[in-house]
Amino acid sequence: MSYTMGIDVGTTGTRAVIVRPDGHVVGAATGDHQPMRMLKPGWAEQDPADWWEASIKAVRAALEAAGLQGSDIAAIGMSGQMHGVVLLDPAHAVLRPSLIWCDQRSQAQCDWITEKVGPDRLIRLASNPALTGFSAPKLLWVRDNEPQVFERAAQFLLPKDFVRFRLTGEFATEVSDASGTLLFDVTNRRWSQEMLGALEIDAKLLPRVYESPEITGQVTRETALVTGLQPGTPVVGGGGDQAASAVGNGIVLPGLTSATLGTSGVIFTYTDEPKLDPQGRIHTFCHAVPGKWHVMGVTQGAGLSLRWFREHFGQSEAWFAHETGMDVYDLIIQQAEKIPPGSAGLLWLPYLMGERTPHLDARARGMWFGLTAAHTRGHLIRSILEGVAFSLRDSLEIFKELEIPVEQIRASGGGSRSPLWRQIQADVYGKELVTLRTSEGSAFGAALLAGVGAKIYSSVEESAREAIQIRERMAPLAANVGIYDRQYAIYRNLYPAVRELAHQLAALG
Ligand code: XUL
Repeated sequence: MSYTMGIDVGTTGTRAVIVRPDGHVVGAATGDHQPMRMLKPGWAEQDPADWWEASIKAVRAALEAAGLQGSDIAAIGMSGQMHGVVLLDPAHAVLRPSLIWCDQRSQAQCDWITEKVGPDRLIRLASNPALTGFSAPKLLWVRDNEPQVFERAAQFLLPKDFVRFRLTGEFATEVSDASGTLLFDVTNRRWSQEMLGALEIDAKLLPRVYESPEITGQVTRETALVTGLQPGTPVVGGGGDQAASAVGNGIVLPGLTSATLGTSGVIFTYTDEPKLDPQGRIHTFCHAVPGKWHVMGVTQGAGLSLRWFREHFGQSEAWFAHETGMDVYDLIIQQAEKIPPGSAGLLWLPYLMGERTPHLDARARGMWFGLTAAHTRGHLIRSILEGVAFSLRDSLEIFKELEIPVEQIRASGGGSRSPLWRQIQADVYGKELVTLRTSEGSAFGAALLAGVGAKIYSSVEESAREAIQIRERMAPLAANVGIYDRQYAIYRNLYPAVRELAHQLAALG
């Protein structure tokens, strides 16, 4: 009965993991999502009903894999892709597909918010600037472009909180995910009445907000029937995927930092108080540790870059993987192993969905720079791995500028499974990269938060001491550090040099 479950509503699938108090994962399963719909460049939508279907599958399969009953689960924690907008009508039906985190269509709304609130006041009220990634601009896009939909909206929810609603019947969120809406007073950990007033958004639309380990509701009878869970099982707040993953990586003390390579890529570090970047290049959000904060820099197209390559150029690897049962990404990455660091002067800008840190630019575009006839498929692949690491180094450079300490970097996310991508990161960051025994990330962190809610651990910090262990330390290779330092100096100047042209190109549609 002292097992806990974490449910992470990701971009490509929903994952459920079941965890023992010592951090051992006893069962895990994923329910896949339909690919995100991109009706126009920069648009990205998913159906909330699909997340719920995937959650049911993942929960049932995780229980089966662990050989456990619903009654063995003491509590559940939620985690999920941040910033998405789910709108429900008064009868609780979903009004339109969700505009998800990487949807970039709301630049006009961002400009309007910045003008209405004022750039400095915006950072004071919400701790962050208006970015197309965040929820409020997406909400306003619906209000401006689909007023007939917006008028019928009775409730706004974030993705994981929609699944929570289906599990418990409660409208609730928690501080870390609320921080990514731009409607939240991050410093005081409550909805910002000033932001709501300025943007003319009715507070009635918003769910109640909790600290991450707090209990927000219980599994209903109806849900128990379809999921195999026990009615009455408590569901804690949990966290946005990044904060939950940070808990799962033990990022609960100053100096501890994580580098997560999922669809997006994130450099995340803990802070004792809200640390603001006056230029808004990094996000300042509430942590899932009660009363604490974090900063993070986000690159939109991390794993997404490699997936894009696989989808459009990886047919032969996909065929070979199908024939042999090998992993398609292993087959792709193998070709990069033979290429020397620096990819013979080839650079990849991973801005396939615009970019957040450091450019805050929805119209940024990706590119290969430095191509010659000597470059091969392997160079293209290696340059993608390197370009993504460079884009994350941009965040570390900003932390340095703001005097935010980074003592140890912990690798996490699907991309960290590749030893080559881990070595490239250690070399590009010039720091030791640590991997942990469990690489389950967000769902694992959500399960630990559930353990705090169920009083299995006395605090989030204690959950880290009990459940998290270091597996491997990878040191940077001095020769490669030099090569990458020189290349990074060019990388960081590359986008600013072509920004105007990228905007002109984006304007052509
Ligand atoms: C964080 C962010 C991503 C998404 C998808 O700000 O946008 O982490 O939550 O993973």
